[in-house]
Amino acid sequence: MKIKGFIKDVGGASRVTKARLAAFENASPASVKDDPIGNVAREWHPGKIDLTVTEIRTASPTSKTVRFARPDGGKLPPFYAGQFISLDFEIDGKIIQRPYSISSAPYEAREGNGFVEITVRRSKGDGFVADYVNDTLAVGTAVKGNMGLGQFYYEPLRDSRHIMALAGGVGITPFVSMAKEIAHGTMDADLTILYGSVASDDIILKDTLASLEGDRVHVVNVLSGDEPDWAGERGFLTAELIKKYAPDDASYFICGPQVMYRFLRGEIGKLGVPKRRIRFEVFGQAKDITAFDGYPVEKKDNTYTLTVVRGIHEDEIPAKATESLVVALERAGIRIETACRSGECGFCRTKVLKGDFFVCPESDGRRGADRDFGYVHACAAYPLSDMTIKIPIE
Ligand code: FES
Repeated sequence: MKIKGFIKDVGGASRVTKARLAAFENASPASVKDDPIGNVAREWHPGKIDLTVTEIRTASPTSKTVRFARPDGGKLPPFYAGQFISLDFEIDGKIIQRPYSISSAPYEAREGNGFVEITVRRSKGDGFVADYVNDTLAVGTAVKGNMGLGQFYYEPLRDSRHIMALAGGVGITPFVSMAKEIAHGTMDADLTILYGSVASDDIILKDTLASLEGDRVHVVNVLSGDEPDWAGERGFLTAELIKKYAPDDASYFICGPQVMYRFLRGEIGKLGVPKRRIRFEVFGQAKDITAFDGYPVEKKDNTYTLTVVRGIHEDEIPAKATESLVVALERAGIRIETACRSGECGFCRTKVLKGDFFVCPESDGRRGADRDFGYVHACAAYPLSDMTIKIPIE
C-alpha cells in the first residue's frame, strides 16, 4: 500500500511540474503591473507615514489628547484597539522617537476624515518628550508615524471574551480605544476597567470613559489618595478588589506604570489566574535599571566608551552604565530606528562586537539565536564596560 501511495505521489508531483512549465511557456511576455497581495501588504504596513497635528485638547488637568491625520487626507493604516504608534518628533533639530498607545478607536481611523489620537500626561520631571507634547506641540506640526504596532490587543482565538482591564495613570489609553470600539459595535467583547489613580483630578479622559459605559463596558475608578468626598472605590488594585469585579474566566490586560506591574503580578498570582489569561502591555524603558535583579550596582556611576560602527564610519561616544544603548546613541545624535523602546519589537536590534552589557530582564525580547550570536535590543541593553556595537546605516 505504501509503495502504491508513493508512486501516486511522485506521479502527481510530476504532473504539477509539467503543468507549471506549460504555464510558463504560454505566459504573456507583457509585465504584470498589478500586485494585489503586495498592495494589501503595503496598505496594512506602509512603514512610516507623514502625519499632521490637527487638534489638541485637554484630557485631564495634567494631560492632553493630540489628534493626527494624513496631510493629504489619505487613508490611515488599520490597527487593533490596544496597539501603539511610534512617532518621530523634531525637537531642537533632533529627531526623537517615542511610542504611545493609541487612545482613539480603529473605526475612527477607518471612517472619512480618519484620524488617530494619543493621550500624553505631563512628566514628573523625567520625560522631556511628554512635556514637549503637552506644552509646545502645536496644531499644524508635521511628524512621522509608524502605527499598528505591538501585541496588546484582543484576539478572540486566544483571549476570553470578557476583558478585565487593570489600568494605572496614563495606562488607561489602550482601554479607551477598546471601549470606543466595543461601544461602536465593531469589537465583540465585554470590557471591565479597574482604573487606579491617585486623585480624581488625575483620572484621564474621565468624561470620555463615562460616556462609553453601557452593557458591555464598565468602568470602576479607584483612588489611592486621601480624598474625603470620593464615593467610589479606594486603595490599590488588590486581589480582593479585582475579585469583586472580575467575572470567571476573564482575560487580564494590564497597562500602567512599572511599579504597578510588579504589584499586580503578586495580586493576580493570589487569584490563581492562569498565565495564558494575563497580558501586560510592554514595559517601557526601565525607570531605574539598578533596581533589577542581577544589575551590578557597583558599576552604576561608571561612564564607558561606546564605539559605534556604521558601514565605514566609526564613532566613539560616552555611554552611562544606567542608560540604555539607545539613549547613549540618541544623546550623541546618532540615529537608530526604534518603535516600542521596550525590548519587544526588535527595531533596534544591534550586533555587539565587543564588551559587556546588562539586559533588562523585564524587556528581554531577543530570540534564542540572537542571544547566541551576540545581538541585543539596544533599548533594553546597558553597558557594563567599554563596548563596540554595529548598527545599520540609516
Ligand atoms: S525599540 Fe523595540 S526592541 Fe528596541
